[in-house]
Amino acid sequence: MDKVTVVKHPLLENSLTILRDKNTKLEVFREHSAVVSKILFLEAAKNLNLKSKTIETPLAAFTGNEISGRVVVVPILRAGLAMLFAIQEIFPTVAVGLIGLERDEKTARAREYYRKFPKILSDDKIFVIDPMLATGGSIDDTLRVLKEKDIKVDCVISIVSAPEGITRVIKNHPEVSIFTAAIDKELNDKKYIVPGLGDYGDRYFGTDVS
Ligand code: PRP
Ligand code: URA
Repeated sequence: MDKVTVVKHPLLENSLTILRDKNTKLEVFREHSAVVSKILFLEAAKNLNLKSKTIETPLAAFTGNEISGRVVVVPILRAGLAMLFAIQEIFPTVAVGLIGLERDEKTARAREYYRKFPKILSDDKIFVIDPMLATGGSIDDTLRVLKEKDIKVDCVISIVSAPEGITRVIKNHPEVSIFTAAIDKELNDKKYIVPGLGDYGDRYFGTDVS
C-alpha cells in the first residue's frame, strides 16, 4: 500500500464532510469540491521537478524556480471535470487530455464514449483525476488506454476510494501512485461507495434532481 497516500489536512476533512452530507446544496458542493481537489492536487504535485529561472523583480535580479516540463491532467468525464476546474485555478498552464467513460448502472461497467489526448512529451507528468474510485473499472480502463499509447501515468487522484477499487488499480498498475482523501468501508450491491457521498457527477452538475 506504499503507493497509496491518504492525504490528511484539517481543511480537507472539513470539506469532505460537507461533500458527504446529503443536505449540502449544489453551490456549496461545488465550492468544497474545489477545496478538496486543490488540496489533493497540491499534495500529489509535491514531487514535480523544478528548474531555476532568473527574473527581474522591480528592485533586483532574482533566481527562483519554475516547474520543469509540462503537467498533463486527464480528467475522466464527466465528474473528473469538477476536479479539473479547481486545479486550473491554481495551475493554469496544465495541458488536458480527456477520456469519457460512463458506468452502466445495471452492470457497473464503464463504457468509453470519448477520448482526446494532447501529444505527450517524454518529460511530461501525467495525472489521472476522477473523484470516485469505486470498482476501479473507470480508472483501470483509463490507465490501460494510456498504456496502449505508451503514455506513462505518474499518479491517480481520487477524492473517495473503495478498498476494492484501490486493490484493482494497484494490482493492474503497480507503478502508479494513488492520492485520495479517504478509503471508505465498502461498495454496496449497486457498486456505490459506502458511506461515500452518492453520485459525484450528479451532485456536482445538478443532475440529481428529478
Ligand atoms: C462515476 C465516477 C467514476 C466512476 C467510478 O462516473 O465519476 O468515473 O463512476 O466508478 P468505478 O470505479 O466503479 O468505475 P459515472 O459513470 O457515474 O459518470 P459521470 O462521471 O458522468 O457521472
Ligand atoms: N460513482 C459515484 O459517483 N459514486 C459512487 O459511490 C460510485 C461511483
